[in-house]
Order: sequence, then structure tokens, then C-alpha cells
Amino acid sequence: MRVLVTGGAGFIGSHVAEHLAKEGHEVVILDNFSTGSIENIRHIASMSNVKIVNGDVLDADAVMRAADGCDAISHHAAQLEIGSAIRDPVADARINIEGTINVLEASVRKNVRKVIYASSAGIYGEAVRLPQDEDHPKRPTWPYGVSKYSGELYCLQYSQFYGVKTCALRYGIVYGEREWFGRVLTMFIKRAVLDNKPPVIFGDGRQMRDFIYVKDAVKLHNILLEEDHGGSFEAYNVGSGVATSIRDLAELVIELSGNALEPVYEDPPEGGYSSITGRWRIPKELRNLQLDISKALRETGWVPRTRLREGVEREIEWVKSNAERWNARERV
Ligand SMILES: NC(=O)c1ccc[n+]([C@@H]2O[C@H](COP(=O)([O-])OP(=O)(O)OC[C@H]3O[C@@H](n4cnc5c(N)ncnc54)[C@H](O)[C@@H]3O)[C@@H](O)[C@H]2O)c1
Repeated sequence: MRVLVTGGAGFIGSHVAEHLAKEGHEVVILDNFSTGSIENIRHIASMSNVKIVNGDVLDADAVMRAADGCDAISHHAAQLEIGSAIRDPVADARINIEGTINVLEASVRKNVRKVIYASSAGIYGEAVRLPQDEDHPKRPTWPYGVSKYSGELYCLQYSQFYGVKTCALRYGIVYGEREWFGRVLTMFIKRAVLDNKPPVIFGDGRQMRDFIYVKDAVKLHNILLEEDHGGSFEAYNVGSGVATSIRDLAELVIELSGNALEPVYEDPPEGGYSSITGRWRIPKELRNLQLDISKALRETGWVPRTRLREGVEREIEWVKSNAERWNARERV
């Protein structure tokens, strides 16, 4: 197959591109390097079946050219900072909605058979039941969830109207090697492992999150890229199905750091800043996120095999040799 991976220089996209390239597929990476990095793809850049294009998904012609001759598109390019989306919902909507429309248009005009769309569990908003299955109400808390859900609706519409097969992957909290710095796990690892300082927990730490190791997520991605399941549009939750509290996460990171630390609890106001780390507290933080992954298990035979402990160990190993990567601006 020839596959266009938008956002292929990013965290998840680089794992998708790497996996496909190593399987012998032709891979075209389209990325504007706004948050992605050549460091993420340097190890595959010289492979003869990998082509890297510096371009923007908002440039419809560039997307069209990159999609030429492709059998499939994996659309991972996006604006995914919740704070940026709150501050500038129009920019968020442009990249995530218009960028997705450009990808879908290119798929129609270039006869691309399948589009995998990187969606987000953020489309559900606050959980009204747990675990959250794919039919859970979609009431996004932040503009980011609205733009990601809009992208899904365009996938559905293009499938119905033009017959292009589309598949939305609703990622939980994806973590692992090459994760970008700014989310809770990376904050904990940076403090406990790199700086020998205690993780700082906002609130009571009983918030639950569904963490999925990046290589497990990419396995499901590739199954859905290579095999046809379900109808012309399908959405799948991509999580571990396991709820982990933030305090348990902090304890795990401390244990793996080998440092004698105790987590610190702090309660800055929503939209305020930590007096210890300076970190911004996202307004309307979700209480719980736990995905029901039975649809993917049932239909594809995929099983996320990596336990949180093992995946976090691997992320820690990676960051120990790439610590400078987390000196960049913290993303929120
Ligand atoms: N990481 C997660 O836990 C998570 C959770 C839910 C959804 N997602 C979705 O997965 C996708 C990838 O996320 P990630 O964590 O790898 O983020 P990332 O920031 O590492 O990757 C995004 C990539 O897209 C590129 N990009 C951004 N805007 C672009 C544009 N206009 N044109 C071309 N390239 C552009 C960036 O340079 C970057 O390489 C996103 O669509 C995101 O919404 C991620």
C-alpha cells in the first residue's frame, strides 16, 4: 500500500509511519512541523519507501499532491491543545475541521480507498456512564472536542455521499516513547524521574483516566487500515479499558523513578496556575474517562497487551536518553 500519514512527524503519527514503513508499505508523511519534530522520524527518514513533505493540511493543493497515488490516508495532523482551543476556537476549528475536509476532498479526487481519522475521547465530554462506549452522548467540554467531533461527522458524510471508507479512532490518553511534554504523565515523569521532585496532583487525585500505550493503539490503527470491518463509516474507542486514578499514576511514576518522594496535592482554581510548578489548570477538567473497547475487541481481534507499568517504564527509558526533548514549551 501507499499511505499518506498527515501529522506523521508527531507523536502518534510517527509510530504509525514507522510501523507501516517497516512493514514495507510506501509512506508519505505530510507535516508542517508546528508541534511535530524531525527527531521523531529521523530513524526512518532515509528509508527508500519513506517520503517526507513539509506542508500544511490547510493547503488543499499540497494535500492533493501528497495524496496522489495513495491507497489510504491516516489523518493525524491536528491542533490538540485544549488551552489553545479555548483561547482561539477559530484557529482550532480551521486546522481540525478545514484540514479534515481537505483530506477527505483529496481522498475523493485521488480515488483513495480509505481514510483513518484520528479522533478523540474528548468528543464525549464528561462521562454520564462508565465505561463510555461509542454510543455515549457527545457533549464536548472544550472547543477541541467540538472540532474533533465535527471531523468525524465529515468522515461520515463523505462515506455516505462518496463511498470513501472512513474510520474514526477515538483515542484515550495515548502515551509512550516520543510523547510530547505537557500532559499529566509527562509532568509526573519529568519531576519525579528527571528532576527528583514530587509530582504535583491537582484536586484529590481521584480523577480517572484511560491510558493506552502508543504501540498498542497503532496495532489497532493498522488492523483497521489493512482490513475492512463494519460499514462505510465506523468509530472505535482506542483505550485500554482500564481506569487509572491520577494518584495511582503518581505513585507508579514515583516507584519507577526509584526516588523517595511523596506526591503533593494542590488545588489551584480552574484556569489558575500551580504555585509549585506554574502549570495551568484546565477549566472544567473531566472527572472520569474510561473507554469501553469491546467493539474493537469483538470486531477486529485486537487486544491492548501492554500494561501501564510496562508502558511507563518504556517511556521513562526513552526520556532518559531524550531529556532535552521535554525542555521545549509545555503544551496545554
Ligand atoms: N496523544 C493523544 O493522547 C491523543 C488523544 C486523542 C486524540 N489524539 C489525536 O491524535 C492525533 C495526533 O496526536 P499527537 O499526540 O500525535 O500530537 P502531535 O502534536 O505530536 O502530532 C500532530 C502532528 O500534526 C502536525 N500538524 C499540526 N498542524 C498541522 C497542519 N496544519 N498541517 C500539517 N501538519 C500539522 C504537527 O506538526 C504534529 O507533527 C491528533 O489528531 C489528535 O487530535 C491524540
